[in-house]
Amino acid sequence: MTRILQISDPHLTIPPEKLCGQVNTLSRLRATISAVLAAEAAQAPDAVVITGDISDNGSPESYALFRKEIERLGLPYYVIPGNHDNREAMRSAFGDAAYLPKTDRLNWVVAQEKMLLIGLDTLIEGEGGGLIDQPTADFLARALSNAPQKPALIAMHHPPFDSGIHFMDKIGLKGAGLLQEVLEHASAKTRIICGHVHNMMVGSLGDTVAISAPSPVSSFPVDYRANAPAGFVTRPGGYMLHEWHGAFRSTEIDLCEADGPFSFRV
Ligand SMILES: [Fe+2]
Repeated sequence: MTRILQISDPHLTIPPEKLCGQVNTLSRLRATISAVLAAEAAQAPDAVVITGDISDNGSPESYALFRKEIERLGLPYYVIPGNHDNREAMRSAFGDAAYLPKTDRLNWVVAQEKMLLIGLDTLIEGEGGGLIDQPTADFLARALSNAPQKPALIAMHHPPFDSGIHFMDKIGLKGAGLLQEVLEHASAKTRIICGHVHNMMVGSLGDTVAISAPSPVSSFPVDYRANAPAGFVTRPGGYMLHEWHGAFRSTEIDLCEADGPFSFRV
C-alpha cells in the first residue's frame, strides 16, 4: 500500500498579516496539521505532497515557517510551486532534499513502494496561469518510461481541465496537450492531482482522471456564470488521500467539526 496525503494552497502569510486581510493562514495550517496528526492511526499516510501556493507571496520567511509546521508530521514531504510561489525561494528553502533539482523547473520523481509520485512544475513566474512546457513533458515521458509497470500519481498545481469558474479558468493551464500526448503513449496507470481552484473537483485529461484538492484556507464559490464575481469565501476545505491498491482511490477529508460516529442499522 502506498498512501499519499495531499495538502494544497495553504497560501501561508506571516502573522499578523492575514490572507487578503481576512484569513489567519497560519492557524488554518496548524488546524490542518492537527487534524492529520489526530487521524494518523486511522489514515496512516506514507508521505505528503503539497501542490503549490505554499506561500501567498513567495517570501523566504513564509517557506521557513511552512517547513517548521509541515515537519511536525514526521513524514517525508514533497513540494511543487503554484502561481503564488517563488521557484528559487522554494529551491533555497527545501533544496537540501535530494529529490529537488538544483536548476531549472522543480520537476521530480520519487519511487514509492507501490507507485511513482511525480511532481511537475507549472509555474510561470509573475503570472497566474500555468504551463506544461516541452522539457517538463519530456521529463514526464522519461519518468514514466523508466518504470512502465508502476502506477504513477502526477502532482501539479494547475488543473488540466476547466473548472467552470471563469475567473480561475482565465488563469488556467497552457500546454495540457503536451501532457496528454505523453500520457497517451505511456503504459502505466496514471492519475493527476492538482490544486489552484480551491475546490475538490474531478475532471479528466484524455483517459486520465484529474482531481483538484480543496484548500485549507479558502474556497471559490461554484458559480458557472460568465459574470460570476471574482472572489473567495473563507470556508476551509481540507486535504486529500490518494492510494493505489490495485486501483486508484482518492478521498477528500474535510476540516468540519462533527459529532459521532453514531451506530446505525446496516
Ligand atoms: Fe491558490
